[in-house]
Amino acid sequence: MEVVIVPDAKAGGELIAGAMAQLLLDKPTALLGVATGSTPLPIYQALAAQVAAGAVDVSRARIAQLDEYVGLPAEHPESYRSVLRREVLEPLGIGMDAFFGPDGTAEDVRGACEAYDRALAEAGGVDLQLLGIGTDGHIGFNEPCSSLASRTRIKTLTEQTRVDNARFFDGDIGQVPHHVITQGIGTILEARHLVLLATGEGKADAVAATVEGPVAAVCPASALQLHAHATVVVDEGAAAKLKHADYFRHTFVNKPAWQGI
Ligand code: PGA
Repeated sequence: MEVVIVPDAKAGGELIAGAMAQLLLDKPTALLGVATGSTPLPIYQALAAQVAAGAVDVSRARIAQLDEYVGLPAEHPESYRSVLRREVLEPLGIGMDAFFGPDGTAEDVRGACEAYDRALAEAGGVDLQLLGIGTDGHIGFNEPCSSLASRTRIKTLTEQTRVDNARFFDGDIGQVPHHVITQGIGTILEARHLVLLATGEGKADAVAATVEGPVAAVCPASALQLHAHATVVVDEGAAAKLKHADYFRHTFVNKPAWQGI
């Protein structure tokens, strides 16, 4: 995998938005897999700025969701469908008709998961999947010990993840659902390009395990080592525990500009 160390979150957002803009130039109908959480916001802001400046056309782009809470109605402000509408689709001017996501309120959860995997495949697969990383190494909501071959399915959140996400629910952990639907690790690995952004020292252990640890289900993000085109973008804080940081810096500085990420 390629590791890019950037000075701060804004620079990471701009780098990744640039890669998305290039993808959209090459393939205007690209299916972009997007992630929720605080970390990817600078990506969406940078991409929206490019759209506003007329530098990139997203009118034919399609957006796919990574994970969703089970039981929150779609119109709940913290359902990930609502969050993505607010933070990604509306700022980019993309309509919900171009949105792919699992139904978190389906009575037949298993059927909804299978239907979502089928919908992604029928749409031609995800071209570029954005990922955040949990302090416990999760990607999507694939918590530690998730099967590295897993498909979209229901998962139970760890207590740590519910604590981490309580900030979106007025700090009240009681409001954070216990269950989620998440693209599986096997599903995520089918995207053509994986781009993980991590910022802040709180992510340094998870990033080191992802990049320099063994491929192991206990750190789900380490599955990125199995992907032919995975890019991990980290700020100085998140890079703090990387033993190969100097090599990663050297490689990026000396990279031919045409190569992109
Ligand atoms: P965060 O979440 O970006 O809000 O830290 C990341 C994640 O849980 O995947």
